[in-house]
Amino acid sequence: MFQQIYQNWKEDPSAFWGEQAHRVDWVEAPKTIFDDSTGLDRWYPDGVLNTCFNCVDRHVNAGRADQAAFIYDSPVTTQKVRISYGELLDRVQLVAGMMADHGVGHGDRVIIYMPMIPETAIAALACARLGAVHSIVFGGFAPAELATRIDDAQPKLILSASCGIEPSRVVAYKPLLDGAIELAQHKPDACIIFQRDVEQASMIEGRDHDWMALEADARDRNLRPDCVPVKATDPLYILYTSGTTGIPKGVVRDNGGHMVALTWAIENVYDIHPGEVFWSASDMGWVVGHSFILYGPLAIGATSIIYEGKPVGTPDAGAFWRVISEHRVKALFTAPTAFRAIKKEDPEGELVKQYDLTHFKALFLAGERVDPDTIDWAEGNLKVPVIDNWWQTETGWPICSNPLGVELLPVKKGSPTLPMPGYDVRILGEAQDEKAAGEFGTIVVKLPLPPGCLPTLWHNDEGFRNSYLTEFPGYYNTGDAGYLDEDGYLFVMSRTDDIINVAGHRLSTGGMEEILSGHHDVAECAVLGVRDALKGELPLGLVVLNDGVDRPTEEVLQECIQLVRAEMGPVAAFKLVAAVKRLPKTRSGKILRGTIRSIANGDSWKMPATIDDPTVLDEMESALQDMGYAQNHAA
Ligand code: COA
Ligand code: AMP
Repeated sequence: MFQQIYQNWKEDPSAFWGEQAHRVDWVEAPKTIFDDSTGLDRWYPDGVLNTCFNCVDRHVNAGRADQAAFIYDSPVTTQKVRISYGELLDRVQLVAGMMADHGVGHGDRVIIYMPMIPETAIAALACARLGAVHSIVFGGFAPAELATRIDDAQPKLILSASCGIEPSRVVAYKPLLDGAIELAQHKPDACIIFQRDVEQASMIEGRDHDWMALEADARDRNLRPDCVPVKATDPLYILYTSGTTGIPKGVVRDNGGHMVALTWAIENVYDIHPGEVFWSASDMGWVVGHSFILYGPLAIGATSIIYEGKPVGTPDAGAFWRVISEHRVKALFTAPTAFRAIKKEDPEGELVKQYDLTHFKALFLAGERVDPDTIDWAEGNLKVPVIDNWWQTETGWPICSNPLGVELLPVKKGSPTLPMPGYDVRILGEAQDEKAAGEFGTIVVKLPLPPGCLPTLWHNDEGFRNSYLTEFPGYYNTGDAGYLDEDGYLFVMSRTDDIINVAGHRLSTGGMEEILSGHHDVAECAVLGVRDALKGELPLGLVVLNDGVDRPTEEVLQECIQLVRAEMGPVAAFKLVAAVKRLPKTRSGKILRGTIRSIANGDSWKMPATIDDPTVLDEMESALQDMGYAQNHAA
């Protein structure tokens, strides 16, 4: 059945995506399905629609006003709030009204720096209503990261909240926001701040405004703008993601292709249908949150959970099962790291047994490679299919998955199964030669990418081509490496660049190196990802200090840790660092990060032919052993 669907797509992609487009409400239905005449691949170029209308208004019009659109479940505040589609429409209209009152219109950018509360989703939908372009920034990023995004997106307005709530502490957002605006060249016209009970932010006269006061004012004045029709190719949002340098990439998502692709994916991959409850336990600051907390479930009139808590510690490792049973969740989507955290605290799955999971039908895992132990634990305790799916911020929806909504294909542990319609996945070697089944290489997708994938980077077409299209002409380079087996199943094994994956969060080690190099006592450094039983990977830094540093080394290392936390944010989880006398390099001066990583992980490794001085590796090994790594090294 699935093979037939994939074949239909392959035989005539335009007919396939033309057919899928009928599920979306258009102001002007597209006559052209695909166009590459501008040099960028664009879907539905003459279509006109509004994403907010598709996600909210039309469901109210169709009789879903009383159905829950969101269920906000917040163990960190003990709040549980059900927001119906009717209530959602009311608030989205008012928030759009208050933003329009501040001059936001079609094409203007709005940055949303907020925690996991309903207002974050409402703000994004309100932007979509006005045809404005939102950029949500994850709360775990530091001011310097936010400042980079402010300068790139040049927002008219920033929406924020007084704080986020981590189990260990209240994170005051306002000082971080003020710090970022101070650092940024670009200054927004205004900031609108949602004050939370646990923390009142101090406001800057003239620039900052109280969200609820403005929303009340919009209600009094009946400021309720209609949905602004936009071109299918107009940007809906920019989502910044880690690249190979400290400068994040502004992934652009359009309106039309996005709605069509998510409608296909939520039903055919995740098997969620109108009225059913889907829970993506991620954060709205990540792509998983954009696609499957916000736009995917709402596109079809399903109910989505907004969870402000953790898998463990809020209050215990049974938190996920409580939410699933209480809100009758049909499918959960999270990162494997969340399950490793649960498994560590509840190895026998005792807490699972305390909840009624009758309505629960499937678990989806993505964001990082899923280890077989985690799959076994989840399958054994939950007794539902556990489905690995592989995708990226850039694509916005799964490249490979097991299409549960069509049929459950045989599972091969370690593989996210088969490419979805729209994706022709190949494995290429360095010489652009196509690899046979079982052979390792770079994972690429034959162009064009399907609807929903990035058409370009924000104001940076050249950067888009250089990053993704140049190395393998005719293909999109995913930056991941792996192989296809004889049944066409994909195995994603590693990255081809210096990106690491820490607790499902995508981070650039190059970015961390840039920060460490900025420390006045650091001469040079290397950051690499080492394996971690909980978070998958952790960044580990090795620094060479300048000659003549006469302070205790430990003091400098603590400053290095603080520097990464202050400049990249706590999410970097940068806590492992050691000082070494020198780093292993090639004769041309390139640091051999791959070799250091293999030594640290205790993997087998070969002496690089180009190494300048092999004796450095012994020093490296003993430094890593002092840190508790490099335990099983086999040369
Ligand atoms: N705002 C501010 N700080 C944040 C934050 C936010 N939104 N999210 C995380 N942080 C902080 C954490 O408090 C932690 O700070 P600390 O160093 O002071 O302890 C740091 O960033 C690292 O966070 P995290 O990597 O999430 O680790 P953790 O120890 O807090 O939690 C898990 C570990 C496994 C429970 C957690 O990572 C998790 O729930 N992961 C689920 C997977 C997920 O959401 N993936 C996203 C893509 S699908
Ligand atoms: P992000 O853009 O933050 O979603 O991160 C995307 C990257 O995470 C991918 O390029 C992969 O390196 C990794 N990733 C995501 N899902 C999977 C998966 N199911 N298996 C292996 N790696 C994954």
